[in-house]
Amino acid sequence: MFVIEFCYIDMVKISPSLLSADFGNLKADLDKINRSAADWLHIDIMDGVFVPNISFGFPVLKYVANLCEKPLDVHLMIVQPEKFIQEVKGINAMMMNVHYEACVHLHRVVQQIKDAGMKAGVTLNPATPVNVLEDIIEEVDMVLLMSVNPGFGGQKFIPHTLEKVRKLKRLIEETNSKALIEVDGGVNIDTGSQLVKAGADVLVAGNAVFKADDMIDMIARLKKCD
Ligand code: DX5
Ligand code: ZN
Repeated sequence: MFVIEFCYIDMVKISPSLLSADFGNLKADLDKINRSAADWLHIDIMDGVFVPNISFGFPVLKYVANLCEKPLDVHLMIVQPEKFIQEVKGINAMMMNVHYEACVHLHRVVQQIKDAGMKAGVTLNPATPVNVLEDIIEEVDMVLLMSVNPGFGGQKFIPHTLEKVRKLKRLIEETNSKALIEVDGGVNIDTGSQLVKAGADVLVAGNAVFKADDMIDMIARLKKCD
């Protein structure tokens, strides 16, 4: 009898976005994430200043961190994110993503995140060109490209993101950077496949996962995007 093992190496990573979860029954949703092929859990923190919405803070995330068995991929949509490096570390985050547009001294913030023992991600809004990262791309572990304007789940994917992924991929190859490319906003099976073809390594998906009839199956299908 032949046993065919499913190998996840080289497959796109999936990071479901907690923002679209059922907050009345968070434990049930997190149990499903734990049982799924999801690679990470994406956590959106908003301050009502950098983006026109407020999500959740560390008192809630402490419980999420206890219930979730996947590495935490934290996306801070806040001004002065460097003020919260220790709090993000405190929930045992694997990755801390800060917005390029929110950091005056981005190089220092990236070093501080790494010194705290986390991976450092830099996020770009849809209108920010990838070439602003030219002088820091070798220092970062991931670039998160927003494919919607940040602040809300369930928005429509901005197609120009595909061109940005291709440009970023070129920049990463030219500089021998090890940075992963993550894309966030309006990702589903269709846009996910286009993104993987363009060079994306990690897909964030909120509504596509948490509003699906079968979350675990949807995550498995996203994982097969190629
Ligand atoms: C938006 C957040 C996203 C959001 C994605 O500002 O950064 O992570 O949850 O949600 P969907 O996948 O529904 O667009
Ligand atoms: Zn996000």
